[in-house]
Amino acid sequence: MIRPAFLLCASALLLTVAAACHSTPASAPAETAAPAPAPAELPGQALFAQNCAVCHGPDGKLGLNGAHDLTKSNLNATGRVYMVTQGLGKMPSFKDQLSPEQIQQVVDYSLTLK
Ligand code: HEC
Repeated sequence: MIRPAFLLCASALLLTVAAACHSTPASAPAETAAPAPAPAELPGQALFAQNCAVCHGPDGKLGLNGAHDLTKSNLNATGRVYMVTQGLGKMPSFKDQLSPEQIQQVVDYSLTLK
C-alpha cells in the first residue's frame, strides 16, 4: 500500500522538476528580448545619435560649443520640443530636418538620459 502512493509522489515530483526546467533559461531570453520597453530601444535613440550627439554626445553629456549637459537639464518635454523645433543661440533649429513626430521621439529619448 505504500508503493502506489510513493509512485504518485515520485511522478508528481518529476512533473514539477520537468515544469521547472521548462520555465527557466531555455524560454526566457527569446520571450523577454523583444517586448521589453527598455529606454535604449526608443525610436528617438537613432535620431539622437544622428542629429544631437555631435554636440551633446551619445549620452547627452558632451557639451560641445556650449551645448548644455542634457542629463542635468530641467527642461520638460514641452520645453525641449520647443528648443529642438526653434533652436536657441548656438543650438540649431530642427524644424526643417525632423518632423514634429520625430522631434517628439528624440525629446522622449533625451528625457531618458540621466
Ligand atoms: C550644433 C550643436 C547642437 C546640436 C546638433 C544640438 N544641440 Fe541642443 N544645444 C546646443 C547648445 C549650444 C545649447 C545651449 C543653448 C542655449 O541655451 O543658448 C543646447 C541646448 C539644448 C537643450 C536645452 C538644455 C537646457 O536645459 O538648457 C536641449 C533639451 C537640447 N539642446 C536638445 C537637443 C536635441 C534633442 C538635439 C537633437 C535633435 C540637439 N539638442 C542638437 C547645441 C546643439
